[in-house]
Amino acid sequence: MKVSFSVNDAPVSVDVEPRTTLVDCLRHELNLTGSHVGCEHGVCGACTVIVDGRAVRGCLVLAVQADGARIETVEGLAQGEELSPLQRAFRKHHALQCGFCTPGMLMTAHALLRAEPDADEARIVEVLSGNLCRCTGYLGIVEAVAEARSHYAKRKDQSK
Ligand code: FES
Ligand code: FES
Repeated sequence: MKVSFSVNDAPVSVDVEPRTTLVDCLRHELNLTGSHVGCEHGVCGACTVIVDGRAVRGCLVLAVQADGARIETVEGLAQGEELSPLQRAFRKHHALQCGFCTPGMLMTAHALLRAEPDADEARIVEVLSGNLCRCTGYLGIVEAVAEARSHYAKRKDQSK
């Protein structure tokens, strides 16, 4: 089936099997391998991407369901060589080790902070509870997301 959507603001069209998941489509058809595949059944969050502003599990959405959608992946966060404030905060707070969970963590946090730049730590923990990390522990991750809040608050002010 032919599917058309935008990924990180670039329009794309691909031919996929109806059973192809969105994350497999991104990885295998579009070569966007930043989104990872762990459990493949909605538990780990490694495959999280943003679809029409909402963080979703890329392994639980079929590519055909995303037809016409606006998709954001971890590849869209940095501006060229320049990491986004959220990515810089992850680096500063040692919020990753192997990095397998990181794309999903980043996209979940990005969607949260864009919608709720004043999210408190309890809210950050609650929202990130759907993303599993098996090597870093969560303290650095939560600290990084909390630090990045001010950048999202500024952006919201600028768009007023
Ligand atoms: S691979 Fe999608 S939630 Fe684990
Ligand atoms: S950094 Fe390794 S699983 Fe999270």
